[in-house]
Amino acid sequence: MNDCADYTEIGCGIYQSQASPAGQASKAGQTQLATVSRQEDGGGQEFRAWDFRHSKLAALILKGFVPPINESSLVLYLGAASGSTASHISDIVQNGLVYVLEFSPTVMKKLISRCESRQNMIPIFADANHPERYSYLVDKVDLIYQDIAQRNQAEIALANAEYFLKDDGYLILMIKARSIDSTADTKEIFKKEVGELQKRLFILKTVKLPGYRDHLAVIARGRSSAATDPTADSTASAPTRQP
Ligand SMILES: C[S@@+](CC[C@H](N)C(=O)[O-])C[C@H]1O[C@@H](n2cnc3c(N)ncnc32)[C@H](O)[C@@H]1O
Repeated sequence: MNDCADYTEIGCGIYQSQASPAGQASKAGQTQLATVSRQEDGGGQEFRAWDFRHSKLAALILKGFVPPINESSLVLYLGAASGSTASHISDIVQNGLVYVLEFSPTVMKKLISRCESRQNMIPIFADANHPERYSYLVDKVDLIYQDIAQRNQAEIALANAEYFLKDDGYLILMIKARSIDSTADTKEIFKKEVGELQKRLFILKTVKLPGYRDHLAVIARGRSSAATDPTADSTASAPTRQP
């Protein structure tokens, strides 16, 4: 719980602070994020700190990319683990839904227990390689967020985009190079994965995340809608121009 007076909204219900928890001036790198959780019983709201050291999405936001979602958005989250990052998305899309998919039975128990206190988080116990097995549960979504350490990360993202992404929807894919190849040059791995995505999607941005070695965030959109996207970096066709 934090004092909301320390924070300013930077868009879509995400708050940012430069102040340290004690309210003193912060040192570089101490910027904090937070979202607001509304109590189901109408009994007020909780200001929840969002730690970029444990959430790649928070690290991406701190690099200046605010996710293109709002309070009514539908989100499919692939690789939700115990639902920590997903719970912040659930705060943002308070009138929408977050489908949270996970395939580890141990982690799934924790995820289900988190979903019990949140009406807009729908747990799905499934392998993200098989969207056809959960297609009856999931609507077309505004955003697919994927954070899965597998060898075929781009392939999984494309298979799910095919089933679930709205024509004007977005994909945020957190590529973990070392899960794809433990020895190859990371730049080559990123180039190959982004090239794979590019066959079916328009790449808007690639962003290196501070504190997450060998990771690359890729933001993409359906090819038909991306030409007019105001967030597009028209030159972002390969992951060599990272901020
Ligand atoms: C890096 S963790 C995700 C952390 C989470 N995104 C967060 O920020 O809180 C990756 C998760 O993906 C799950 N996972 C890996 N392969 C999967 C697959 N094929 N289908 C579904 N989940 C998968 C793992 O069990 C693990 O919990």
